[in-house]
Amino acid sequence: MSPPEPKRLDQTQDWIAPSDALDQTQEFIPGGVVPAPQPKAPTKVLVSTLGDFRLIGKLGEGGMGTVFKAIQISRNRIVAVKVMSKELGAKASFVERFHREVRIMGKLDHTHIVRLIAAGEAHGFIFLAMELLEGGTVGTWLGKLGRFPVADAALIAKSCGMALQYAHESGLIHRDVKPDNLLISKAGIVKLADLGLAKTTEDADVGLTRTGIGIGTPLYAAPEQVRDAKHVDPRCDLYALGCLLYHCLTGITPFPATDMLTLIKAKEKGTYVTASIVNKRIPPALDRILSRLLAKLPNHRYPTAAEFLQELEFAGLSGEELSFITAAT
Ligand SMILES: Nc1ncnc2c1ncn2[C@@H]1O[C@H](COP(=O)(O)OP(=O)(O)OP(=O)(O)O)[C@@H](O)[C@H]1O
Ligand SMILES: [Mg+2]
Repeated sequence: MSPPEPKRLDQTQDWIAPSDALDQTQEFIPGGVVPAPQPKAPTKVLVSTLGDFRLIGKLGEGGMGTVFKAIQISRNRIVAVKVMSKELGAKASFVERFHREVRIMGKLDHTHIVRLIAAGEAHGFIFLAMELLEGGTVGTWLGKLGRFPVADAALIAKSCGMALQYAHESGLIHRDVKPDNLLISKAGIVKLADLGLAKTTEDADVGLTRTGIGIGTPLYAAPEQVRDAKHVDPRCDLYALGCLLYHCLTGITPFPATDMLTLIKAKEKGTYVTASIVNKRIPPALDRILSRLLAKLPNHRYPTAAEFLQELEFAGLSGEELSFITAAT
């Protein structure tokens, strides 16, 4: 008989990784290694284990912390672990919101949303374990290829739209839809990451560093979100999806990225170069869809992701699979 499957995370389960799995005398430094025993034991050694997760390599860094490849010891499987920065771990309001939101995220189950495996706290760090996606991000592929063929761009937008429809119907707004938050599996499935973790202006004062409050996110953010990040509705995600689709199709974002003030003014004005003028291969149906997604007033956008998906489906432009992943593997 095979061993019982561990329970999926739900509200009744303890969300904090058992602290007895950690050696409290050791100082955790993400990415550190366990040195061989020394004749004179050092007072502090580097460890690379957080609860059930042994960190084995760095995958990347973002505004909130560092992401590692890791082994989940109890299941003997490879996962990704996002370790939040110490500043965030020290901020009570962030930790409280983090635990509230991971409870919701743990219940989400969708093909196009990165699956959360566990969340925990150790040595002043809070961390999330999630499924590992090894096909890169839409952002890294945009960096390599410049832009995508129409069928790929439409498939990426469709996958993201499906994830957003599910998230919105579950009561969550993403708030940070952007190419780096769309991860791709080895098989070429596009998945939305970081749901529920998006930053608000409230968090900006703890120094979300580098990318967190830089130009990166505002490039895709809706004008009403740039004005007041706390009072947004799901339509801000549809606007960001519009910026993302435009970027995938044309290789540039719809509004200039020269400096923050110019960017905000351009978004408030709401005019951009029609995508098919930038890239002649883009059919008029996508220009029309983009004009609904990128409307400066939320009331002029699609009311729901479902309506966007209907129109995209009607245009019949999405490919079955990403051509660049098939070609690369
Ligand atoms: N589940 C995962 N599987 C594989 N790689 C991942 C995973 N999650 C994140 N990464 C990698 O780690 C990098 C950093 O991710 P992270 O979410 O911290 O930053 P970001 O998306 O660039 O910015 P932000 O903090 O605004 O979300 C990603 O760009 C990606 O390369
Ligand atoms: Mg991210």
